[in-house]
Amino acid sequence: MTEWDTSCHYPRASRVAVSRTTVGRVSIDRRTVVSVSGRVPLEGATRPYASRNPARLEEVVADVALAGPGTFVAAARAAREAQRAWADVPAPVRGSVVGNLGRLVAANAEALAALVTREIGKPLAEARGEVQEIVDTCDFFLGEGRRLYGQTVPSEMPDKQLFTFRVPVGVAAVVTAGNFPVAVPSWYLVPALLCGNAVVWKPADYAAASAQALHELAVHAGVPEGVLSLVVADGPSTYGGLEQALDEGLVDKIGFTGSSEVGVRIGELAGRHLQSPCLELGGKNPMVVAPDAELDLAVEGALFSGFGTAGQRCTSLGTVIVHADVHDVFLERFATAVSTARVGDPTQDVLYGPLLDEKFATSYEKHLGTIASHHRVLGSTGTGRIGPGNPRQGFVGDPEAGLFYHPVVLDGVRPGDEVFRTETFGPIVGVTTYRGLDQAIELANAPGYGLSSSIYTTDPATAFRFRRGVSAGMVSVNNSTSGAEAHLPFGGNGRSGNGSRQSGIWVLDQFTRWQAMNWDYSGRLQKAQMDVATVEADLDHRLR
Ligand code: UN1
Repeated sequence: MTEWDTSCHYPRASRVAVSRTTVGRVSIDRRTVVSVSGRVPLEGATRPYASRNPARLEEVVADVALAGPGTFVAAARAAREAQRAWADVPAPVRGSVVGNLGRLVAANAEALAALVTREIGKPLAEARGEVQEIVDTCDFFLGEGRRLYGQTVPSEMPDKQLFTFRVPVGVAAVVTAGNFPVAVPSWYLVPALLCGNAVVWKPADYAAASAQALHELAVHAGVPEGVLSLVVADGPSTYGGLEQALDEGLVDKIGFTGSSEVGVRIGELAGRHLQSPCLELGGKNPMVVAPDAELDLAVEGALFSGFGTAGQRCTSLGTVIVHADVHDVFLERFATAVSTARVGDPTQDVLYGPLLDEKFATSYEKHLGTIASHHRVLGSTGTGRIGPGNPRQGFVGDPEAGLFYHPVVLDGVRPGDEVFRTETFGPIVGVTTYRGLDQAIELANAPGYGLSSSIYTTDPATAFRFRRGVSAGMVSVNNSTSGAEAHLPFGGNGRSGNGSRQSGIWVLDQFTRWQAMNWDYSGRLQKAQMDVATVEADLDHRLR
């Protein structure tokens, strides 16, 4: 057994605490989440927090011990200590750990998906898709362990060879949101670990149990102690811990998924340490519906990307920009589809369930407050929170139990409206009109985000003109703004990010740095540029 073979260090039994509790007449699991480095609990001051099922607020999914800044720093220190040995593990062997994780996630897919649905209220079908996204990510990076190519590069001098190597960045601090509580973290964790980095992962507090489950699977997959820590903390403690860890030289890379506002602060902090973070921020994603579009397809895409995950994806549809000639027929079909969609209990077959958590409900209600008299509200039997006094026709389950909101289709949205310019993170889709494609592109770019975008058209020239003009990092043609595959570059521009990309081979540039090597075996000092052979040429020569 070699030094890096850690399989013997870990008992098979999980140390994760799960107790049974009774809600109504049902007995359910209640987890305890503490910060851990590998399987070792990270000690320090904590504050209690309850992660609740947003579809049944009385149900506590996990009792969470929120850590202070010191715990974050301790995890970064453990990561610093563990990272060298992990980097010495051959990349194909690190790849096999990633492969183990993929297998473990697949084998536990139903349990993990059910936990995600319980904790953040995403419909089960979507939660299953989210879990599959982790498996896809592991499948991709399992192979990357056997590639992780460098290059051999010709030298300008004889008896000299040039090379490039990918070297791990070191310690990555990864801070993630809870709308994709396991898939999006895997986009950071998997490539970061594969590349030989150690990771301190701070998930969203309201998604702590889902995070703990993924962390547990990673530990069982063979990720050594200290190489992956889970720190559950609130925003200020995370920021404070990160600042201190950076000051102490314990963090080399930050990965952050969350709001543009916090992304700016993370970017400033990283910049002070000459680091460039990997930022995946919000979006106000446009969908253009051209006059030649297949309208039913566009309606289906708008329904899925506007209201899936209750409109709380980074890739959620913000505004439909529909050609004036087809506006009325599109709107009529879209409003009908939204009005008749099943909303409610996320364990059932519904379009969407509750909002993620109380704080998202509060901020979403502020956006609802900006609906003005020039807007036309369609899509439901009311607006705002669904309840006995504000019912939704055909609601599935008990609306009073959770954070359920009416879907809103808002026609007549104008570029000056806040709802046009700002990410709303809830089940609301704006509709506006255009006449020429240049105007559609201008409207698509106007909010200043740039994550995802989509166009429905049957004309290739229109599709390619849109692709060229739109500022988004991702463009769909005849597909919605959501649904990125796990091996295409994911990321945005403008208020959506700093140009960093996740997924596929592109994320390798986030978690490795290029090292250039030159090796001169001529036995003499050959000076670059000065000792290079020259070739005689007659550059005045012209053809007759
Ligand atoms: C996110 O919202 O942060 O394309 C990620 C999608 C998903 C990932 C979204 N595959 O909607």
